[in-house]
Amino acid sequence: MTADNPYIPYFATIEDNWYETGGDRCIKTFKVVFDDPAVRDSWSHKPGQCAMIGVLGEGESMISISCSPTEGKFLRFSVMKMGKVTQALHKLETGDKITVRGPYGNSFPVDDWQGKKILTIGGGIGQAPLRPIVEYVKANREKYAGLTMIYGARSSGDLCFKGEFDEMSKCDDLSCHLTIDIEEEDWSHNVGFVPQMLLDLNPAPENTVAVTCGPPIMIRFVLENLKKLGFSDEQIYTTLENRMKCGIGKCGRCNAGGMYVCKDGPVFSYAVLKDIPEAFA
Ligand SMILES: Cc1cc2nc3c(=O)[nH]c(=O)nc-3n(C[C@H](O)[C@H](O)[C@H](O)COP(=O)(O)OP(=O)(O)OC[C@H]3O[C@@H](n4cnc5c(N)ncnc54)[C@H](O)[C@@H]3O)c2cc1C
Ligand code: FES
Repeated sequence: MTADNPYIPYFATIEDNWYETGGDRCIKTFKVVFDDPAVRDSWSHKPGQCAMIGVLGEGESMISISCSPTEGKFLRFSVMKMGKVTQALHKLETGDKITVRGPYGNSFPVDDWQGKKILTIGGGIGQAPLRPIVEYVKANREKYAGLTMIYGARSSGDLCFKGEFDEMSKCDDLSCHLTIDIEEEDWSHNVGFVPQMLLDLNPAPENTVAVTCGPPIMIRFVLENLKKLGFSDEQIYTTLENRMKCGIGKCGRCNAGGMYVCKDGPVFSYAVLKDIPEAFA
């Protein structure tokens, strides 16, 4: 993006919004478009990057960009209702304005992964930063050796992006494996925890990159199981969501083991993170 000052927020209008999940901590996706055509044209992001989303008079929150740049000149954010800012965001509707600054952070090295098989392992809202990888690979199928997506949540009602999975199941080089924690009537997919489903699927580590994001407990067991399956530390990536304030390496709020997640991450390989105990706390 061409912004000289990374603190500058730009106005964007909500073009569409919908609920992904229900409940107290429901998740709503916002599709937004920058008001200024120059900002819209100069904006570029990569899978894994995030942005500071602001609601005037309420504050800002760091949110992963949940669309791939291959999808068009808009941004998507999938937001769980947590506190002051995200509750205010959830009250907004199509036509309302938010501010966006960014994009921030590093990204998944999708270009370095060309020629490889991609395995994404997500849980709950953790699928939001993984979705751009899925969409990026879908748009660049000839560059990758295939994509396997494992995604789980507590119940079918807690799964995000539900409308997008059927199409994937019809493609030879893309496979989508869904799981929920507890049996439900009319649920035709897997029942059980994500780390166990990973073991059951038994993906071969050869020429494969594994990327995981979800609740810390899920990530811990997924990492353990990826190691059991023979994945090396360098083949495993994750993205951290430490609490952030400035988003640009100035305030120290997002410190993890001497690194700033906003500046050095949020994407890290396990080779970097394995010696930082608080990374998976
Ligand atoms: C790199 C990054 C990417 C993120 N991507 C997303 C995303 O795609 N979708 C999404 O819904 N959220 C995402 N988050 C988390 C999001 O930033 C926070 O949930 C949000 O800032 C909470 O703001 P609030 O004002 O609504 O809540 P607050 O009033 O500040 O807090 C409400 C509650 O949420 C907890 N909380 C706040 N921030 C975090 C956090 N980062 N991790 C764990 N608990 C937190 C607080 O401890 C408190 O219990 C991301 C965070 C980071 C750092
Ligand atoms: S959020 Fe301020 S240093 Fe990372």
